[in-house]
Amino acid sequence: MHIKRRREWDLPESAATPEAVVLNRRATLAGLGAASLGFGAIGTARAQTPMAVTIEDGGYSAAARRFDPGRPLTPQKNAERYNNFYEFGLSKDIWRAAQNLPVEPWTIRIDGLVEKPFTISFDDLMKKVKVETRIYRHRCVEAWAITVPWEGFAVSDLVKLARPLSAAKYLRYTSLADARAMPGLAIPFFPWPYHEGMTMAEATNELAFVGTGMYHQPMPKQDGAPIRMVLPWKYGFKSAKSIVRIEFVKDQPETFWEKTSPDMYGFWANVNPKYPTLRWSQARERLIGTDETVPTVIYNGYGKWVASLYAGMKQNKKLFM
Ligand code: MTE
Repeated sequence: MHIKRRREWDLPESAATPEAVVLNRRATLAGLGAASLGFGAIGTARAQTPMAVTIEDGGYSAAARRFDPGRPLTPQKNAERYNNFYEFGLSKDIWRAAQNLPVEPWTIRIDGLVEKPFTISFDDLMKKVKVETRIYRHRCVEAWAITVPWEGFAVSDLVKLARPLSAAKYLRYTSLADARAMPGLAIPFFPWPYHEGMTMAEATNELAFVGTGMYHQPMPKQDGAPIRMVLPWKYGFKSAKSIVRIEFVKDQPETFWEKTSPDMYGFWANVNPKYPTLRWSQARERLIGTDETVPTVIYNGYGKWVASLYAGMKQNKKLFM
């Protein structure tokens, strides 16, 4: 059962409940024997109602919640069975086909403007980074959204490992393209392999995350095993899956979606309810699992962390700057 409540994200930032307060309330309720209550309903009159969001919401540390998602988690099954991974086809129901993704061995090439280009195996990379859990909202440009506990590490850890030269201003990251496993590569109008980009300032922002798992498990193949980007303030298409190469470059790289549909999808692609996509509004979003629709928030609600990156930049209609 889904509990409707007024969300922090629907309020101006100044009116949101600080997490410490919410956590204290939660501890108090737990002390009252109400530990089975979902985090999402704490502090509302309906908190007494028994509900089924408990397991999905429970058991995550304050650290995992420090980017307060303000929403119940999407049930795991819903999040993992509704995907975009065009290498496996255009439908949302590609999770079975994606089981053909070859993930072992997996290597990632780090090159371009770095001190010394190198190739590292996924296993070796995992020994060099600090893995943590972070609960983030994820907003697709198609106006659906999920809230997911990701496992992974900060993109800034990867930047440190790569040792970029000062001339490097952008990262260009590329997904695997393996025609034997990926029938979608036969779709002619896409400029495969899937590739996206971000600025160094975005990559080193605290929020930028590399996902290696979700719901306490290794990344499912359909969600971009073994390693993908997770950039929660941008539309989901910036979060490329199954990454095999990260290149440091001087100039803003042209991206997969800019090449595919330049009048629809821009480089920045920051979530912005004010600017509709050519054919549909971005004002609201549908929550996968409940189908409830809720208002979309600028930067997907993460303005506190990222708005300064874009200070002084002019917004335009191409998906926000
Ligand atoms: N990465 C690759 N390689 N191929 C894709 O088709 N789709 C993007 C992004 N990353 C995509 C991709 C889009 S449009 C979205 S919304 C998210 O992946 C979806 O992530 P999810 O299926 O894990 O929810």
